[in-house]
Amino acid sequence: MFSQYAGVRPLRAATGTDSRIEVLLGEPLGTISPNIYGHFTENLGGVIYDGVWVGKNSKVPNIDGIRKELVEQMRKIKAPVVRFPGGCFADSYDWRDGIGPPEKRPRRTNFWAGEEKGPSAPSHRYDPNEFGTNEFVHFCKLIGSQPYLAANVRSLPAEEFYRWVEYCNSPAGSTTLADVRAEAGYRDPFGVRFWGVGNESWGCGGNFSPQEYAEEFRRFTTWVPSYGGDLSFIGSGPNVDDWSWTRGFLEEIVRKGPWALRGIYGLALHHYAWNLSRGPENWVQGKRDAVSFEPVEWYELLREGDRMESLITGHWQVMGEIDREHHIKLVVDEWGPWYKPGSEATPGDIIEQMPTLRDAVFSGMTLDIFNRNPEKVAMANCAQLINCLNSLYLAHEDKFVVTPVGHVLGMYAAHQGGQGLRTLFSSPSVNYDRDGKPATFWGLRGSASLNQKNLCLTVVNPHVSEGRETEIVLRGATVRSGSVTTLTHSDIHAHNTFERRDVVTLHTSELKIAAPLVLTFPPASVTAVNVDLA
Ligand code: AHR
Repeated sequence: MFSQYAGVRPLRAATGTDSRIEVLLGEPLGTISPNIYGHFTENLGGVIYDGVWVGKNSKVPNIDGIRKELVEQMRKIKAPVVRFPGGCFADSYDWRDGIGPPEKRPRRTNFWAGEEKGPSAPSHRYDPNEFGTNEFVHFCKLIGSQPYLAANVRSLPAEEFYRWVEYCNSPAGSTTLADVRAEAGYRDPFGVRFWGVGNESWGCGGNFSPQEYAEEFRRFTTWVPSYGGDLSFIGSGPNVDDWSWTRGFLEEIVRKGPWALRGIYGLALHHYAWNLSRGPENWVQGKRDAVSFEPVEWYELLREGDRMESLITGHWQVMGEIDREHHIKLVVDEWGPWYKPGSEATPGDIIEQMPTLRDAVFSGMTLDIFNRNPEKVAMANCAQLINCLNSLYLAHEDKFVVTPVGHVLGMYAAHQGGQGLRTLFSSPSVNYDRDGKPATFWGLRGSASLNQKNLCLTVVNPHVSEGRETEIVLRGATVRSGSVTTLTHSDIHAHNTFERRDVVTLHTSELKIAAPLVLTFPPASVTAVNVDLA
């Protein structure tokens, strides 16, 4: 095993290299939407109450009730967009409960109350509605993000959706709802562009068939006033590889005419990596521990997550059968690993898990997949931001920590808005034992992008014990200077806790310019090479 922070070794002769990366500057793939670095905050467990919202009178440092350290961290990673209020919660939520004077807002049973069995705060079971539309949009403003609101299709009529849009976007003084907004201190319209029309409408969002959902989608999105701005409607898309949902939804949509495709910005795809049993899918028994795992479970998790690329290309192909010009893009608004309960940083927080180095490598791998498909993926939202699944941050009362996943999102921020570049990776495969049978996984993968004169190359080495000495060729570029940032650890289970916040951290060194360019990617690592070109 390499030393803890082997980092990336400076350049030396290419002898002994076993891997090669070739970045083709002359082969652009398309602009990487900043929004694929998006986030997701559902009113679930400790995500909103305790995670994002601590309240104006809290002893926890806050800005208008919003956790200050969270705001500061999210500014650093250039968070582009945040989805709220769900998730499954969205289809039980009445947005009117979360507006008006906070002391007059009703308390409601949270969608997730039935899952609350442990010692969690009352606000997790019974929603005090202190954090509603105003507070969420304010949070987005503070961190420089765009809001992405998910509407309730299962239990509210379409009219309520129009009213929510009106509340958010109608000009100051124009409507009664604009006046209500102004009374709360928000005179100017929020200008919310992204609207999710339900969530997982094939399941918790109403158990619709794709045809039934398409009808609801039409009802919800027809003739919604746009108040001079763009409204981008995102349809509830498929669960993992449910091609029939994608096909059935679009077939029904175009039954009224192909023009109907123009009214859809994106189709939401959800994929969680959870089945580590190497056996049949069983939602409860298939999950394994977040922190305690064998190398085989490391690779199996990555394998499950790596399906994302074929899901993107598969759904894209199905979409193309009907939407031939590919007007509609994919919005992967929930992704990440999902483990069994037991590793919560805050006991009692439901659907919270401890992100380790494994999840950082998983996240780097997933972001690279999105970067490699910039013409297909318009937005993606890691599930979920704080105190939940693949969280960037964990927080409880005055305690706060950046997880290894949070560090990866920071490392990859340089890709936002860049031109994706075709990049060739060649490296020995990983061989591992899968219950007595040989299995393989790819050796090195990543993505590259060019933002003016700045080239960013991100590389994942999934091997738990072998580094990869790699020759890097930047075809068509002259390097002036650069830096190399690596996230790794000698223990694949390493993670950051409230008590030990810096176990897994970033290590940056200068890129020494030489030809050929040779870097060693440590085992179990994510690396970002940032290069200034002449
Ligand atoms: O992210 C947790 C839940 O997973 C979401 O509420 C739901 O959309 C998905 O099934």
